[in-house]
Amino acid sequence: TIVAEAREGAIGIAHEIAELIRSKQRKGKLAVLGLATGSSPIGVYQELIRLHREEGLSFQNVVTFNLDEYYPMQPDELQSYVYFMHEQLFDHVDIRPENVHIPDGTLPIEQIKEYCRNYEKQIDECGGLDLQLLGIGRTGHIGFNEPGSSSSSPTRLVKLDPLTITDAAKDFIKEEYVPLRALTMGVGTILKARRIILMAWGEGKAKILRETVEGRVSDEVPATFLQLHPRVQVVVDQWAALEL
Ligand code: GLP
Repeated sequence: TIVAEAREGAIGIAHEIAELIRSKQRKGKLAVLGLATGSSPIGVYQELIRLHREEGLSFQNVVTFNLDEYYPMQPDELQSYVYFMHEQLFDHVDIRPENVHIPDGTLPIEQIKEYCRNYEKQIDECGGLDLQLLGIGRTGHIGFNEPGSSSSSPTRLVKLDPLTITDAAKDFIKEEYVPLRALTMGVGTILKARRIILMAWGEGKAKILRETVEGRVSDEVPATFLQLHPRVQVVVDQWAALEL
């Protein structure tokens, strides 16, 4: 879907998410959402907050699993994805705190394998992700699955690509303050979602978006693995669509 402006795309995505939440509510079921951080989903979260405040959209039946978190990272640091998600969405809606899951950047290294296995298990125990929301990094990463990530990769600790570190520097004042690693759901974890929405706004994403949608499927651009999924929607503004 190509829209004129990001705001229009974000509103459309928020309405699809709201419809999923409401249809699950009618059946007395949980809506299990995989959520993303970065600038791309902010407009989606703003519209979801508006729907909550003005149109009574409830998040009582919503369970969320975030894609990733920097490692190491304390939850109260301004750059943490925990901080981001609370500021951008969770503090403004009626989601139950026990239904929110964000990878824990504070764990000692020896506990990470077990923690990641358990993160996947928790997703499975909720019945799997109904919908995964994704942005895309300029390396072609989804979550923090950098080039070299396989299509079956699980939730794990990864090294960030130098380009990702450069792009993240704006949030950390200086490039040398950006953590070198992150916890991320794997490509395999993402592909298990029943439905995926990838969004990209702005000309800076045009090249990687072309490779993602039209390029050969390869671990050099992990987002190309989305071509293997039966139910992916790619929502872009006219600028991100420039090279399609
Ligand atoms: C980070 C996140 C990704 C996100 C990417 C793009 O690397 N881990 O999930 O897609 O940034 O960020 P933005 O949406 O700000 O362009």
